Amino acid sequence: MLGPPGAGKGTQSDLLAQRLNVPHLSTGDLLREAIARRTPLGRLAQPYMDRGELVPDEVVIGLIKEWLAREGHQTGAILDGFPRTLAQAHGLQETLAELGRQVGQVLYLRVPTEELLERISGRYVCPQCAATYHRRGTRPRTEGQCDVCGAELVQRPDDRVEVARRRLDVYFAQTAPLIDYYRGQGILAEINGAQSVDRVLTDELATLPAGYRHN
Ligand code: AP5
Repeated sequence: MLGPPGAGKGTQSDLLAQRLNVPHLSTGDLLREAIARRTPLGRLAQPYMDRGELVPDEVVIGLIKEWLAREGHQTGAILDGFPRTLAQAHGLQETLAELGRQVGQVLYLRVPTEELLERISGRYVCPQCAATYHRRGTRPRTEGQCDVCGAELVQRPDDRVEVARRRLDVYFAQTAPLIDYYRGQGILAEINGAQSVDRVLTDELATLPAGYRHN
């Protein structure tokens, strides 16, 4: 799942993972979890994330390699927010080749920048289970409380406007080149992400090769 910050990658990955019955792996969620648990990985990643910059490639590639070798290669998986640089894309390709797998399809969510900032600044997340809400869109049933696990909702530290702008700059400089990279491989589907959540999901499902579709 490829796209700028706030494009809906997490929202759509969750829904697709349920539909396709495969795991959803978000490198952002893995890193936030490591920060919350104060692990060595979390301590390393936090300063980068607080500045809105990317965690070094070798760290993130190592994280994904470990996860894929452990569980993700058997069923396939939806990778959300990875790869984010050409070096990560090459690392992924090598790792999958070793496991006899490959990237099947890349879904690129296209959303105008003004809309991205609105989505990011209005977002509230659950620090326990990573469920996502928006003050304008998907609201929790009880204000400030997660529908799934009841925890108190918070704003992500990197959702402050100045950090969100930096994340967007980093996206355009380091991640957007992956659009042409995967288009050149003939596996990129471009999805209009500026539609309702349901509509985006319908478009995504329609672009998946027949073998991927489930109800
Ligand atoms: P990460 O957690 O991956 O953040 P991101 O890519 O910036 O993406 P977001 O989580 O902001 O947005 P999203 O596209 O998932 O949108 P969402 O569904 O939440 O990464 C965070 C940081 O971790 C990075 O900055 C970096 O430091 C580090 N990192 C992570 N991966 C890395 C890697 N591979 N390499 C190096 N560093 C890495 O939706 C956003 C909001 O919009 C929500 O409120 C949602 O409810 C709402 N919304 C969703 N869809 C719609 C819709 N269709 N209409 C209206 N509202 C919608």
